[in-house]
Amino acid sequence: MTNEIKPNVYAVGAIDWDRRLFDELIPLPDGTSYNAYIVKGSQKTALLDTVDPKKTHVLLDNLVRAGIQRIDYVVAHHAEQDHSGSIPDVLLLYPEAKVVTNAKCKAMLMALLRIEDDKFIVVEDGQELSLGDKTLKFIFIPWVHWPETLGTYLVEDKILFPCDFFGSHLASSDVFVKDEPMVYECAKRYYAEIMMPFRTPIKNNLKKLEAFDIQIIAPSHGPVYQRPQFIIDAYKDWAGDDVKNEVVVAYVSMHDSTRDMVEHFVGALIDRDINVRQFNLTGVDIGELAMALVDAATVVIGSPTVLVGPHPTTAYAAFLANALRPKTRFVSIIGSYGWAGKMVEQLSGMLGNLKVEVIEPVITKGVATDKDFVSLDLLADKIAAKHREIGILK
Ligand code: FEO
Repeated sequence: MTNEIKPNVYAVGAIDWDRRLFDELIPLPDGTSYNAYIVKGSQKTALLDTVDPKKTHVLLDNLVRAGIQRIDYVVAHHAEQDHSGSIPDVLLLYPEAKVVTNAKCKAMLMALLRIEDDKFIVVEDGQELSLGDKTLKFIFIPWVHWPETLGTYLVEDKILFPCDFFGSHLASSDVFVKDEPMVYECAKRYYAEIMMPFRTPIKNNLKKLEAFDIQIIAPSHGPVYQRPQFIIDAYKDWAGDDVKNEVVVAYVSMHDSTRDMVEHFVGALIDRDINVRQFNLTGVDIGELAMALVDAATVVIGSPTVLVGPHPTTAYAAFLANALRPKTRFVSIIGSYGWAGKMVEQLSGMLGNLKVEVIEPVITKGVATDKDFVSLDLLADKIAAKHREIGILK
């Protein structure tokens, strides 16, 4: 892949059509890309980021095919290996190159890739590096999603290279975004899985970027945005504090007792004009679940009791939700038990990161009775009242 973004600015990264899992955790139904960019100034040439080690050969081939005979600077925006992993090989091919990054990222790269100290040039926030007729300005954008991340603003071309920030896991032969709704879904999935725990630094970074006239955003995953406001507005919405009139119901059922409760409860919510996203956690795409958590005002976990505690699958979902820190306001639990259990205490205890109000759970012994269905109706009433209180339901 060798494609011009602007005169003397080229995409030279790799598309990974086949990758289906990141960090052995995150589903990638649409693959991904590891974007790297060449910026050729009148005097110096910079490579912004590299690619995942498995795709090093693609990057090196692209550099050779683009006729890049000298690289003066390799800008490392982020130490995670999907962007930094090919740096050692690039340095072998271009031994004159220096790695330009901040102090935190340098320390990480030395630990993760064993790059020698004398290969680095350390830059500060706001520092500029001249390539001749092009100027790189470095902007520290920490916690998107690691503490060391920085971006580069190409001053003359008004291009922002924000690394993972604004990215999307999408393998596409389109260098630029052509289908905004499709990229929106991929970018939201990426935000939900990677960025959501860092809403506060993301808001700070969005504010910081307002000082820049950005005409193009070239992230390190997915297509390049020629209409930057599209993805900036999406991020403002996702990272903002507003929630939607929506309940995520995530459940598992072993002998249909919990399933019966979920079906009745979901019907009751719909009757009260509340939108519902229902997930059977058995075999769920956790990316879909994470996306639903981005906006929902309320989460209800449905679980049977296994060996006194919650079903391990619901425990996993609760653990994940707690780690992802969505802006959810209300949580409740419904479910069943055979003889005894501490499912409610254990599930509630796993959600300590969430600043939520817990609405009284509905737990039944065995199959639900008419009385339990009334309790589920009352739970739906309480959720509707909460949604009205915060102004998201009329
Ligand atoms: Fe795409 Fe955090 O690496």
